[in-house]
Amino acid sequence: MRRRNLQLDAQGRLRHLLTIEGLKRQQIVDILDTAESFIGVGDQPVRKIPLLRGKTVVNLFFEASTRTLTTFELAAKRLSADVLKININTSATVKGESLLDMLRNLEAMHCDMFVVRHGDSGAAHLIAQHVAPHISVVNAGDGRHAHPTQALLDMFTIRQQKGEFAPLTVAIVGDILHSRVARSQIHALTTLGVSELRVVAPRTLVPEAVSGLGVHVFHDLHEGLRDADVVIMLRLQKERMQGAMLPSEHEYFHTFGLTEDSLAVAKPDAIVMHPGPINRCVEISSEVADGPQSVILQQVSNGIAVRMAVMSMVLGRAPVDEEAR
Ligand code: CP
Repeated sequence: MRRRNLQLDAQGRLRHLLTIEGLKRQQIVDILDTAESFIGVGDQPVRKIPLLRGKTVVNLFFEASTRTLTTFELAAKRLSADVLKININTSATVKGESLLDMLRNLEAMHCDMFVVRHGDSGAAHLIAQHVAPHISVVNAGDGRHAHPTQALLDMFTIRQQKGEFAPLTVAIVGDILHSRVARSQIHALTTLGVSELRVVAPRTLVPEAVSGLGVHVFHDLHEGLRDADVVIMLRLQKERMQGAMLPSEHEYFHTFGLTEDSLAVAKPDAIVMHPGPINRCVEISSEVADGPQSVILQQVSNGIAVRMAVMSMVLGRAPVDEEAR
């Protein structure tokens, strides 16, 4: 209970963004609407608005990242915040300083927001429990637990492409077991009320508890993709696998890889999504990843506006006023 409420203040406004779980439909819609208002900033001659001028955002990435780290940095800069990236490998943590002591020192430098990616589930919650009252924490991915801004940019992309959520059949395909992205997407899609949500994966890559989340489980790719409106492919999270969970990548691609043939059983106007990084010929063929139904790079672009929305909302600076735009 405490975990769910930690991200809301006494008035129910977003103070941190740690997980999608527990957010109400209207809170998710508010974030998507706020992101919509920021989309045009990227097309302006000067891609900046002064909404977070004077604020300092610190990116604390304990795990590798290309998309999330870069789009958080771009989003903060487009809002005119000062942005610091702590290089964990050259920080004083390598001399034995604890994470919480490092945060205390960053607080003493008058930072306003920590954007945290960590390999341990619950790391962002732990940090949010210990930061000073004026600091907001945004979870940029923690272990297998949650990747809320990824799920929000995915919802933004689905709404942009399809309009309403209610009529949609969505299939999430791949390594559900190890995927923080899948968990956050499942919470977002069920809260937004899609018609049918499917997970499609080998038996070894589906957590037992998943059917309790309101999804239909499929172990056959073609059955799972049949008449889907949205197909979300996931990477095999080999860095989180213990022991052999699959015969081989070749075999996996043969049975669960998205190709032009397997995509043909989805609706003709189905969109193909992937949070990245993609592994070509492991979970998706190049023809599909680069094909006309793919919105994978659109997801990346949308990540900037969605992260602008989240940062401005947790710092209490949204909605945008006209003067600021
Ligand atoms: N989707 C995603 O989290 O990608 P990165 O690991 O590159 O940030």
